[in-house]
Amino acid sequence: GIVVSSLLKETGLVTYDPGFMNTASTSSAITYIDGDQGILRYRGYPIEQLAERSTFLEVAYLLVYGELPDAAALEAFTERVNRHTLVPEQFRAFLSAFPRGGHPMSVMASAMNALATFYPESLDPHDDEAVDLATVLILAKIRTITSYVHRSMTDEPLLYPDYARGYVEDFLRMSFAVPYQQWEADPVVASAMDKLLILHADHEQNCSTSTVRIVGSSNANLYASVAAGINALSGPSHGGANEAVLLMLERIRSGGDSVETFMKKVKNKEDGVRLMGFGHRVYKSYDPRAAIVKKHADAVLESLGVKDELLDIALGLEEIALNDDYFVERKLYPNVDFYTGLIYKAIGFSPAMFTPLFALGRMPGWIAQWREMMKDPSTKIGRPRQIYTGATERDYVPAEQR
Ligand code: ACO
Repeated sequence: GIVVSSLLKETGLVTYDPGFMNTASTSSAITYIDGDQGILRYRGYPIEQLAERSTFLEVAYLLVYGELPDAAALEAFTERVNRHTLVPEQFRAFLSAFPRGGHPMSVMASAMNALATFYPESLDPHDDEAVDLATVLILAKIRTITSYVHRSMTDEPLLYPDYARGYVEDFLRMSFAVPYQQWEADPVVASAMDKLLILHADHEQNCSTSTVRIVGSSNANLYASVAAGINALSGPSHGGANEAVLLMLERIRSGGDSVETFMKKVKNKEDGVRLMGFGHRVYKSYDPRAAIVKKHADAVLESLGVKDELLDIALGLEEIALNDDYFVERKLYPNVDFYTGLIYKAIGFSPAMFTPLFALGRMPGWIAQWREMMKDPSTKIGRPRQIYTGATERDYVPAEQR
């Protein structure tokens, strides 16, 4: 049943629900999840169909505007995004100023915040044209920013965007091409990258999206709200899990622990160790995104001629988990992060880039959710209540008498 807040307000009751396990913070028409059956749909379209047949920019349009674009609308949208992919030179200098080895998620969040200073005409959250401009600017610049973050980690020169190329293709070119040399995308890699971005594009009211909404609920601009989302995503219990999965697999391979010993530690909860990439607040069955990623991991590795022992370790861990009471009873299955890192690694990204790639994919979802909230007449500033557990009233005592 649904308890509406107006009812609680009348009775003066406060709900106490740590982690919002059972509390809806909003209504939304964007993404549907059935966690028991492993169903995910964007605007009603099954994720499997979108991953198979759509493209990232088309999905971005769908999430933001509610409908799939016709051919002309898609072309106009693509053209507009492409036209804005270049970042101002001053901004480029700002991006280069971070110390080498600083985590790219910190750079991404700072970059998103800084973007607002370059486009003051796009900041008013209640001006439709300004919001449309901010939407396009963020989608356009984030492709350039993410590839620059990758290149600055490898000390490579930054490449200018190429307007004529597709979104994902040009992102890969800016990330991996050698300056002044011909570069063509490997179609298997480009298609896998496109699918991964689609799979990450939205996931209703998770930690980062709720953060975007709560920041936006104070009428903060889109850049400030999305920057907060990037920060929320950086944690290892959320977007940071894909990086943590790879580090976990590498530790197992380098002989720290056998698969069996590691799984024993997880089950005994030794030092709080968890099987990263497993478990989900909403999915209590196989994450449908993980199933799609797993299907493509093999194809990408094969096309790139990569033989990665880590894939075998991951498959081994999953096999044990799916047949072990600890995981079965708690309904812990692989989530989207379990196999993504293996594909990113094969493409050539370092583990520190995995969460930024998640952020790149999640951008349309954050934008769509923020826009939906701004248009919703029932939106109020986010302001949870608390149950106070501190001291009762007491009198101040000067320091020398304490
Ligand atoms: N490995 C081992 N045990 C686990 C795991 C795991 N990955 N996840 C949950 N459990 C256990 C908990 O210890 C707990 O056991 P208990 O009942 O004996 O105390 C039980 O399962 C329930 O776990 P909670 O932490 O209460 O579940 P919650 O819904 O709060 O957490 C979360 C979900 C954070 C995703 C958790 O499963 C986890 O930490 N997973 C690993 C990190 C990860 O992969 N995060 C990515 C999530 S998906 C995403 O952000 C895209």
